[in-house]
Amino acid sequence: MIALGIDIGGSGIKGAPVDLETGELTQERVRIETPQPSTPEAVARVTREVVESFDLPADTPVGITFPAPIKHNTVVFMANLDQSWVGKNVDDVFEQELGRKVIALNDADAAGYAEAIYGAAKGHDGLVIVTTLGTGIGSALIYNGQLIPGSELGHLEIDGVNAESRAAARIREEEKLKFPEYAKRLQRYYSHVEMLFSPDLFVVGGGVSKKHDKFLPLLDLRTPIIPAQLRNTAGIVGAAALAAKGEVL
Ligand code: BGC
Repeated sequence: MIALGIDIGGSGIKGAPVDLETGELTQERVRIETPQPSTPEAVARVTREVVESFDLPADTPVGITFPAPIKHNTVVFMANLDQSWVGKNVDDVFEQELGRKVIALNDADAAGYAEAIYGAAKGHDGLVIVTTLGTGIGSALIYNGQLIPGSELGHLEIDGVNAESRAAARIREEEKLKFPEYAKRLQRYYSHVEMLFSPDLFVVGGGVSKKHDKFLPLLDLRTPIIPAQLRNTAGIVGAAALAAKGEVL
């Protein structure tokens, strides 16, 4: 079965059809820059362009990831897109523009789900915490293969500041941190999360996880910490898989 996954991020809106047997993309990923300001209308318009660039049957399930917590289809708070999203019913915004049913969910929950079904967390029992290091820090909690949606561990307050404002991959770029310096920030972050949750495994995703050999070996944790396998397709794949299941989180 094929479903379409769309991943809305602070810098790009990406999409591709996914073969749900294998978790692989069946066509090249399409990416368009996120419009600025990233209002609901502007983002929905670009999302339509991405959806329409694939010639898929009208009943293909569509899953859309979103860089914010979504509860009962509604944006709870927004760190990295326009504030006018707060309180909006995301399904309504996209269904009006696309004229088809969609399922919208948090980007890190989607990525975590994909890693649990097809990737690095597959077959791992106990508590797996998947984190995505990107514009912000996203998190997904997976317990015995089951996603527990809605965690926001990027916004833990550590040393008096919001954790993602020190340890997101974007901050490494903005502050031009070398990997050993960045690893110190990740050390502080992951040891705190480890203390709070005693997980069985950490999985690290987001674009920077391509370079995992430069920072993961520098971390000293009790918990094994491994790179994500799906990397930048995890959000797309997880959204497509959850849309096909008809899962509303
Ligand atoms: C948002 C999360 C999101 C993460 C990664 C955070 O700022 O609050 O919902 O998963 O960024 O995009």
